[in-house]
Amino acid sequence: MIIIAAIARNGIIGRDNTLPWRLPSDLKRFRKLTTGQAIVMGRKTWESLPFALPKRLNLVMTRNPTYEADGATCVTTLAESAKLAAAQDLYVIGGRAIYAAALPLATRLELTWVDADVAGDVAFPDLDLAAWECVSESARQEDGDYPYRFATYERKT
Ligand SMILES: NC(=O)c1ccc[n+]([C@@H]2O[C@H](COP(=O)([O-])OP(=O)(O)OC[C@H]3O[C@@H](n4cnc5c(N)ncnc54)[C@H](OP(=O)(O)O)[C@@H]3O)[C@@H](O)[C@H]2O)c1
Repeated sequence: MIIIAAIARNGIIGRDNTLPWRLPSDLKRFRKLTTGQAIVMGRKTWESLPFALPKRLNLVMTRNPTYEADGATCVTTLAESAKLAAAQDLYVIGGRAIYAAALPLATRLELTWVDADVAGDVAFPDLDLAAWECVSESARQEDGDYPYRFATYERKT
């Protein structure tokens, strides 16, 4: 299980149920990493998308047993998501509650550090980076609303 998230310096990840930035290389990286794999998201993040993301198994977490998501499969737990993902990698793509549930279980973090304090209403949950080893870090990206860089972390054993 892999968490993928873009996080501002002040922890913000969302505003008005959308992303508070335009970061073209981040979207490209997201597409490259997740295509052909399974993605699981919260119902609100699902509703922020125009449609199911193509060439990926789209899983939507909701507690509403009658919720229907066109082009996606509804799930109630991460364990159910992992089962449906089977041999594919399972990317946890947010938002906050889903990240919080996945943090104790994930083995890798694919983070985008946005180098700015950004106004918003949803923050990434508390993250203790001491438990994680940074195994790769990109150069600073300058093609978006704010500068940013990618970093991959693996859980320390
Ligand atoms: N920066 C990033 O990388 C990033 C990534 C993703 C999203 N976002 C942003 O984050 C914001 C949305 O995040 P959010 O935290 O408000 O909402 P969210 O996590 O996307 O969705 C919350 C919903 O997920 C369901 N849910 C949550 N925990 C659950 C559990 N344990 N079991 C079953 N269902 C559960 C519930 O759906 P029901 O109410 O239907 O039961 C809950 O209302 C948006 O602004 C979005 O753009 C940012």
